[in-house]
Amino acid sequence: MNFMDLIHSRRSVRAFVDRQVEPEKLRAVLQAANQAPSAGNLQAYEIYQVMAPRVRAALARAADQSFIAEAPVTLVFFANPGRAARKYGARGRDLYALQDATIAAAYAQLGCHELGLATVWVGAFAAAAVSAAIRAPGDWVPVALLPVGYADELPSASARRSLDDLVHEL
Ligand SMILES: Cc1cc2nc3c(=O)[nH]c(=O)nc-3n(C[C@H](O)[C@H](O)[C@H](O)COP(=O)(O)O)c2cc1C
Repeated sequence: MNFMDLIHSRRSVRAFVDRQVEPEKLRAVLQAANQAPSAGNLQAYEIYQVMAPRVRAALARAADQSFIAEAPVTLVFFANPGRAARKYGARGRDLYALQDATIAAAYAQLGCHELGLATVWVGAFAAAAVSAAIRAPGDWVPVALLPVGYADELPSASARRSLDDLVHEL
C-alpha cells in the first residue's frame, strides 16, 4: 500500500477472529520494528512476542482489557533504560529508551496494517503486573502492548484535531 494510504486507513481494532497469525507475517512485523530509528542506534528497547494463552490472559488482566486475550499474539514493548543510559546518562535513561520503544512499536503497528493484520496500541495497564506476567527484568519499563490478529470489526475513522489547532507556526 502507498505509505500515506497506509497511515490514513489504519484503525484501532479491539475484536479479533479465531485465526492464527502466519509466522512469516509476524517476523516481517518484527523486522519492521527493528528498522526503527533509535538514539545512537542503541535500540534501547526489548520486544516480547507472547503467544502462550496463560500469559496473554495475564496481560489482559494487567490491562483490564479482555480483548487482549482474544488476539493470538501480543507484542510487548519495553524500554531498556540502562542500555541508553550507558551512553547518554539521565537523558538516555528517562527519555531516549522510552522514545526508542515507542517508535519501534509504531513501526510494528504500521507493519501489521500493511500485512492485513489488526492491532490496537494498549497503554493503559498496571506496569508491575505486565512485567510480572512476562517475568521481565525489574529495570525494564513496559511501554505498549500490541495485540495482533485478524480483525473481527471494521471501525470507522476517529476524528483528529485540525492542523490549525495542532500546528503552531512561527
Ligand atoms: C499511548 C496510547 C495509549 C493507548 N491506550 C489504549 C488502551 O489502553 N486501550 C485501548 O483500547 N486503546 C488505547 N489506545 C488507542 C487509542 O484509543 C486510539 O489510537 C485512538 O482512539 C485513535 O483511534 P485510531 O487508532 O483508530 O485512529 C492508545 C493509544 C495510544 C497512542
